[in-house]
Amino acid sequence: MKGVILAAGKGSRLFPVTHHIPKPILPLANRMTIEYAFDRLKEIGISEVCVVVGESEPRMREALGDGSSFGISLAYVRQTEPKGLAHAVGFAKDFVAGDSFALYLGDAIYSDGFETYARHFTESGCANLNIVKPVEDPSRFGVANVEGWELPLSPMNGGERGLGGEGEPFVGPIQKLVEKPTNPESNLAMAGLYFFGPEIWSVLPDLEPSPRGEFEITDAIQLLIDRGENVLAGVYEGTWFDTGTLDSFLATSSFLVGGGQLIDPASQVRGAIGESVVVGQGAILECLCIEDSVILPGAEIRSTGAIKHSLLGGRVSSDELEGVIEFGLS
Ligand code: DAU
Repeated sequence: MKGVILAAGKGSRLFPVTHHIPKPILPLANRMTIEYAFDRLKEIGISEVCVVVGESEPRMREALGDGSSFGISLAYVRQTEPKGLAHAVGFAKDFVAGDSFALYLGDAIYSDGFETYARHFTESGCANLNIVKPVEDPSRFGVANVEGWELPLSPMNGGERGLGGEGEPFVGPIQKLVEKPTNPESNLAMAGLYFFGPEIWSVLPDLEPSPRGEFEITDAIQLLIDRGENVLAGVYEGTWFDTGTLDSFLATSSFLVGGGQLIDPASQVRGAIGESVVVGQGAILECLCIEDSVILPGAEIRSTGAIKHSLLGGRVSSDELEGVIEFGLS
């Protein structure tokens, strides 16, 4: 099995930081975000990985090289424009070359590995298995109706387990998929990790753009279902983070440092350090106090007051900093 990581988005919800540091290589707990994806893929025996990149390709190549320093072999393909996940995955077809593959959305972080799901995908011989997760606000995601996951009977509510068997995660066939539905019929969100066999390539040419103008991976999977392929969902039992917004980026960072502090030894910090603080290599930080924030490597941040819930890079001087993303150039 091969690995494909989609990393061609613009990361616009973390501007201006992602204007200077492409989102996939933005440090999270002082490691590049994409390194966590490499770890998860390696755990399931994947060593050949293709990254679908956009205009940040040169920076990505410079940071990641041929992958050997991460214990993988890395290839790059360029998505011409970010026209959707199904559009992006199409660029990896030659790389995958008829093999099966794990598709990993570059901004996802997971607490636990996917060994059980990968095994189930291979042993079941299905065309596609998707990691899903119950969420409180499904309308922000692709949403799956899964046979056997009737809400009153679901394992969350003390019901029986599905096809996965005793001690295994719930796995069941997907009946229907909708991207960001206004009125979700299920609480199972598509959680950013998909296993595909070669069947996927036959549906991509038949896709139409969605109402938001993108070629959706959910629509591609729905087409597989419509054509009678066996399409499964496996309910993820770990914690899943989508790191795309300030809130979710800081929540992921806090999770990765266990709510504590990760201060690079090659940084200078003056000020009281509270919970969930990461300071990167070479950063200079002066403030009254700091909590729930990330100071990027090489940053120079001076605040006469408190820094809270912020992501800061470059040179920033201010009084209080709360709930902001800044990358100062002065
Ligand atoms: O986070 C899970 C959700 O991801 C799923 O529940 C949805 O079904 C799926 O469509 C996707 O929704 P988003 O709208 O949140 O996707 P986003 O635009 O954030 O892109 C996810 C990743 O894919 C991100 O790392 C950037 C990359 N990407 C995105 C697009 C649109 C590309 O590489 N190329 C693209 O054209």
